[in-house]
Amino acid sequence: MGKLVNKIAVVTGAAQGIGARIVERLFVDGATIAALDVNLEKLQETVLQLDRSGERVFALQCNVSDREEVNAVFAKIYERFGKIDILVNNAGITRDAFFHKMTLEQWHSVINVNLNSMFYTCQAVIPNMRQQEYGKIVNISSSSSWGNMGQANYSAAKAGVIGLTRTLAKENGSKNITVNAVAPGHIDTEMTKTIPENIKMMAIMLTPAGRMGNPEEVASVVSFLSSDDSSYVNGECISVSGGYLMP
Ligand SMILES: NC(=O)c1ccc[n+]([C@@H]2O[C@H](COP(=O)([O-])OP(=O)(O)OC[C@H]3O[C@@H](n4cnc5c(N)ncnc54)[C@H](O)[C@@H]3O)[C@@H](O)[C@H]2O)c1
Repeated sequence: MGKLVNKIAVVTGAAQGIGARIVERLFVDGATIAALDVNLEKLQETVLQLDRSGERVFALQCNVSDREEVNAVFAKIYERFGKIDILVNNAGITRDAFFHKMTLEQWHSVINVNLNSMFYTCQAVIPNMRQQEYGKIVNISSSSSWGNMGQANYSAAKAGVIGLTRTLAKENGSKNITVNAVAPGHIDTEMTKTIPENIKMMAIMLTPAGRMGNPEEVASVVSFLSSDDSSYVNGECISVSGGYLMP
């Protein structure tokens, strides 16, 4: 029996990359999953590959930077399953530019998708989690939260994620809710495919593991933080960076 049998999980940004592998891992762990993404076509393809039976993974279109949409989709999930035990906030984008050239649109879009979205999704689940006295929230941050050239918007959002995580952990720990973050380093996904080869090589040189990470290596840590194996872990940010991040 998987450790997440009878648990209802929501994963955002689930159509590809790290999000898709998180859905896959929680599925193997036994959870029933509402998989959310703004790209419905890609999401449906992925969900079909992960759960051919269509019984435990459900695709729902949701732009997490739109509060109305988030509220409507989470209301649907509550209507269907009656509860949410696990929330994984994974959806994210980059719009890189040096700060002196960054447009207001680049700034706002990254803050909206990577940080404001977590205000919406967490507010949609925390009142119920407090009532049921059970909840696991995992927020995806990044090694860029320590600062990264060309990513003032992304770094600010991902550092904000850690502050939000710690505060929610303090506020809700007494209600048997844990809120933790995961900070991936350089992971091989669509997001990192556009990074120039020389920059990637430099990042790998600074990574003791000597390679990029796989999305599955992030998903296994999310699985741990989503289960009772981590019942006394709260307010942490765990780096999954092959040693790149040793603050
Ligand atoms: N790949 C890395 O090296 C790396 C490193 C650190 C952190 N991260 C973080 O991990 C998470 C996943 O990244 P990834 O590498 O898998 O990226 P990805 O681009 O492969 O996947 C991101 C997914 O999020 C979805 N998404 C984007 N905007 C959305 C929105 N408004 N609403 C709902 N869904 C939306 C996309 O459609 C896509 O399916 C992100 O939060 C990212 O910032 C990635």
